[in-house]
Amino acid sequence: MGKFDKKTDVLVVGGGMISREVVLPTVFQEQKYGRVGNISISSLTGSIISELQSMFPAFKGYPDPEKYKPDKKYPEMFKEAIKDLPENGLVIVATPDHLHTPVIKAAIEAGRHVVVEKPLCLKVEEARGIIRAADEKGIYVLTDYHKRHDRSVRAARYKYRKGHLGEMLHGHAWIEEPKYMALNVFKDWCEKSSPFEYIGVHYADVYYFITGLKPKRLVAFGQKKFLPARGKDAYDAVQATIEWEDGSVFFIQTSWVNNEKNSTMTNQGMMLLGTMGEYWADHKDRNTHFVSDQNGYEDYNPNFFKQYDSWDFPGEADNVGYGYDSIVQGINDIKRIIELTSHMNENEALQTRKKIIAQMEETRGLPKQALIGVAVNNAVRMSADSGGRFVVFDEDMNIGFE
Ligand SMILES: NC(=O)c1ccc[n+]([C@@H]2O[C@H](COP(=O)([O-])OP(=O)(O)OC[C@H]3O[C@@H](n4cnc5c(N)ncnc54)[C@H](O)[C@@H]3O)[C@@H](O)[C@H]2O)c1
Repeated sequence: MGKFDKKTDVLVVGGGMISREVVLPTVFQEQKYGRVGNISISSLTGSIISELQSMFPAFKGYPDPEKYKPDKKYPEMFKEAIKDLPENGLVIVATPDHLHTPVIKAAIEAGRHVVVEKPLCLKVEEARGIIRAADEKGIYVLTDYHKRHDRSVRAARYKYRKGHLGEMLHGHAWIEEPKYMALNVFKDWCEKSSPFEYIGVHYADVYYFITGLKPKRLVAFGQKKFLPARGKDAYDAVQATIEWEDGSVFFIQTSWVNNEKNSTMTNQGMMLLGTMGEYWADHKDRNTHFVSDQNGYEDYNPNFFKQYDSWDFPGEADNVGYGYDSIVQGINDIKRIIELTSHMNENEALQTRKKIIAQMEETRGLPKQALIGVAVNNAVRMSADSGGRFVVFDEDMNIGFE
């Protein structure tokens, strides 16, 4: 490739809630600061692209609403968008949970690095296919497990690894969202995923991130009461008890039918008990509250993804927080890989990419680490669907009923 000007072009495939609230504000901010080049967005319909055009600065849209019927669906058009992405480009995947794999595979095939919203995918076999393809072509695929960037979680990891908590005994986490998620935001795909697969996986990854332990077996339960009565064959709530390789146990409870009048979107938190110490954190109540005529009472999490007055653009706002940091980590890693290899011939570049990615693999949610969350997701779904049978994991994260 030609000289790299330290900017990556970015293609976002998605265009829904997380794209609007986190991914696009992040990449447009990076563009504003001169760290990202051109931006393109691929979504299902031209009318989604039109809406996004009214919300964000200029970008290239797929399908172009001027040329295509606005409400016709173009589920394969991301392939054209990837083809148009130059060599300095990267792909951010923000499609529904069960539709990550085809986009990731197409990006790898085209030689483009990837940042993908969690979970990497829903099935172990799919994750293996992604690992194989990414390894072969020396492609970076980061799963955006943004809780890894939450200082409350990083603190737990740091102290655990320093030995302050001793050996893990048990812990639990809760993460639950309101009814409008399943009924409105995810109405087209809530049957294909579940509150555990969509959001509980964050805490399965957090336990693995903190401790480095791998799951040994689990049992999961799910309830279908509220959503089926509204025409959706989807789980309202899912709980899993996971036993890890050292015998410690971590319980995760999830739901997407909580009350819509909650003081924030996500109830969440975690406790851990070790032989030498304990950790307890409410990740919803960060001890910052607002009451306003506009929004009523709010529990305000200043750490996730919030707007603050910009130091550099007076009168404008900057997005700050772990939601931002996590995506920017992916963009910066990819820029580093491109910068270090752009002047090399094909084979030298491939070997160098593999070396850099292998170094990054130790600390990041690259596919070999993201596989843990995928395997837990896959096992939870099997166990809940079977009415609570145990599912076991082997060393390589192959899963099966006990
Ligand atoms: N990091 C986080 O904590 C976090 C938070 C919320 C969502 N997510 C994840 O992000 C992903 C997207 O979530 P969301 O909330 O934006 O969902 P959403 O349903 O609001 O949006 C999905 C978007 O994908 C588009 N889409 C579907 N098929 C497509 C295709 N073939 N080509 C192009 N676009 C296509 C849809 O048009 C829609 O705009 C999910 O995997 C979800 O689990 C992550």
